Amino acid sequence: MGRKRQPGKQMAAQGQPQGQQGGQVHELLRPRRPVGTARSSHFFDGFPRFYETSHTTAFRDRLNLRYDAIFAENRAIFEGARVLDIASHDGRWSLAALETGAKSVVGIEGKADLVEHANANLAAYVEDDSRYTFYAGDVLDVLAREKIDVDVVMCLGFLYHTLRYNELMWRIRQLNPRKVIIDTQVHPRAKGPFVRMVLDKAGMQRDAIADDYSYGGLVLVGHPSVPAVRMMAKAYGYEVESFSDWGSLLRDNPTASDVGDYGDLSRVTLVLTPAEEGAGAA
Ligand SMILES: C[S@@+](CC[C@H](N)C(=O)[O-])C[C@H]1O[C@@H](n2cnc3c(N)ncnc32)[C@H](O)[C@@H]1O
Repeated sequence: MGRKRQPGKQMAAQGQPQGQQGGQVHELLRPRRPVGTARSSHFFDGFPRFYETSHTTAFRDRLNLRYDAIFAENRAIFEGARVLDIASHDGRWSLAALETGAKSVVGIEGKADLVEHANANLAAYVEDDSRYTFYAGDVLDVLAREKIDVDVVMCLGFLYHTLRYNELMWRIRQLNPRKVIIDTQVHPRAKGPFVRMVLDKAGMQRDAIADDYSYGGLVLVGHPSVPAVRMMAKAYGYEVESFSDWGSLLRDNPTASDVGDYGDLSRVTLVLTPAEEGAGAA
């Protein structure tokens, strides 16, 4: 609250999704719920520490609408689930998973100070500390080392901070989750399975951590297109089951700020399911 906003991330034209092609709203942004039924739940107003313990887009409207897109729309997925939170940051989505019905959560986060925040935040809001565990370290190292039993994997805000997609997807496949929830920046509107190369700065809170393959404080990462995400899923036996209904959220919360990237198709929220069970969203 009262934070400086990211330039260029303001809500596009007061609630009007910008993902238009030839005057038509893109199918991913076409509202699917009746008008007025997708108003913000203001979830994080009940957990206000998260407005303060991160300076990575911890804006009130943004966090709350992300909660609605990732969790409220997928409530059934979390019921009784053991959840893995990849890039768990200050624990905001681990807490959200527990509050949405998850039995337990394991978070992996590369920055030790953020893991401290996550532990303090969950201690403040969750009575039973056996329900959460946070590991500090590179997500791929921790997954290679630890035995973690999961039903649901959350990969939120991470797919654009790595290029090591085959390792990541292979590790996820080994865990055999029944659902994988992805929230990611994407290479917008690309029709093919492309990945745009980007350089992250390892010192930034929001960015990739340095690893064995990075050099000079820079980390080569990628922004995959939606078809590229589909291909990654397919290569490891998953498929896209659903996209969250950002069209309705943007329509029903027209004054929400800092969510413009969801409105111009440069960010999406989706659920993967094992291919043999998938509904196969086209
Ligand atoms: C953009 S933030 C996303 C935070 C949160 N998951 C969300 O969606 O709001 C990216 C997070 O990934 C973490 N991160 C980046 N590279 C990592 C890696 N290789 N292993 C573990 N964490 C990493 C960063 O430290 C940062 O907390």
